[in-house]
Amino acid sequence: MTSEKIEPTECLIGEIDVPGDKSISHRVLMLASLADGESTIHGLSRGQDIKHTMDILSSLGAKLSEMEPDVLCIQGGRLKEPSGNLYVGNSGTSIRLMSGLLAGLPFSTTLDGDESIRKRPMKRIIEPLKKMGASIECLESADTAPFRVDGGDLKGIEYQMEVPSAQVKGCLMFAGLFAEGDTTVVETTPTRVHTEELFKEVGLDIETTSTSITVKPGQPKPFIHKVKGDPSQAAFWAVGATILKGSEVSIKNVYTGRERTGFIEVLLRMGAKITKDPVTNDLHVRSSELVGTVIEESEIPGLIDEVPVLAVAAACADGETYFKGLGELRVKESNRLETIVSEIGSMGMKAEISGDDLVIQGGELVGGKVDSHGDHRIAMSCAIAALVSTNPTEISGWESVSTSYPDFIADLDALGK
Ligand code: S3P
Repeated sequence: MTSEKIEPTECLIGEIDVPGDKSISHRVLMLASLADGESTIHGLSRGQDIKHTMDILSSLGAKLSEMEPDVLCIQGGRLKEPSGNLYVGNSGTSIRLMSGLLAGLPFSTTLDGDESIRKRPMKRIIEPLKKMGASIECLESADTAPFRVDGGDLKGIEYQMEVPSAQVKGCLMFAGLFAEGDTTVVETTPTRVHTEELFKEVGLDIETTSTSITVKPGQPKPFIHKVKGDPSQAAFWAVGATILKGSEVSIKNVYTGRERTGFIEVLLRMGAKITKDPVTNDLHVRSSELVGTVIEESEIPGLIDEVPVLAVAAACADGETYFKGLGELRVKESNRLETIVSEIGSMGMKAEISGDDLVIQGGELVGGKVDSHGDHRIAMSCAIAALVSTNPTEISGWESVSTSYPDFIADLDALGK
């Protein structure tokens, strides 16, 4: 386990390119591997999660070659049975989306991941995939990884999701490409729309209404895609620049589509100074005083991954911030409801869990010793909290950051003054 010491910092100044969006990166890799021909992807996320998706697609027979830094060519079309198990590491998006794709292919695969993945709920994808006709067997304990997928012979279904989840929606949409007939996913609470946007972009036949997505079987056309910056990573700098007096940061070319920018709306409501350039998609952030707010349950899917860093903003705001309905945070890379409170709490944040709600009182952060619990977003949120703390902070389990943002420290060094 590695640890990282973060010193208090006066302010953040400068321009930054955040990594390519992780959700989009997984999806374009999968679509390119299915397309019959050569696709080109610019600006993929370089985190370990994406590396796992790339390795899995390679072992399924897609030919991935890096043409120059940041440009990947993929020759897709004919996927085949791999020789060994498929390992997703820490990546929930890899295992859930890939299960949908593999359920459609006429061979057998076994998916597994790290200790955290083996604890995460898979019933949400296994149940609907079985309804489509997939054969899935959990090899160690019910509804968790590792599991074997014997794919092929799917039929389309209409399925209403029980939890708002873009991963479940994406899984079923990928399966729908191989099913006989239409596959319709009904979502009553909107979630991120990357799968829908990208399916349309690569020529797949889908229909969307305000509450449903219908996919017809089909094969993507080869494509060229430039991945925009990840708003979830931009959120760290947006919060950092907001809470450190005298800061001014521009975050270049950030994806700002539906259900990904809830953190900006919440920060604006709290008094943040954030503007978006409609042409370049750059976010400009200047420091400002924050006041507490209420975040409704309906807002959570639109900022699901940003709750840890928003908790840091809340800890620095005047008054109380109330997050409603954070049950899903219990089944992320760590039990984030608990780890936010234990780790940022040990740095001085005053917080309480009430059922599935989180209540934070603004005050002063003092730093100290914290642990990532193997969760990249907890580690990076503690790092942002460390910048405004009165003492240095030592974060153990820092290696988790490589799952999504290997260059976080280099970017912090470039911005920190
Ligand atoms: C993701 C969706 C979200 C998010 C995850 C990435 C995706 O999960 O937390 O980091 O790429 O679809 P859920 O939709 O399961 O909440």
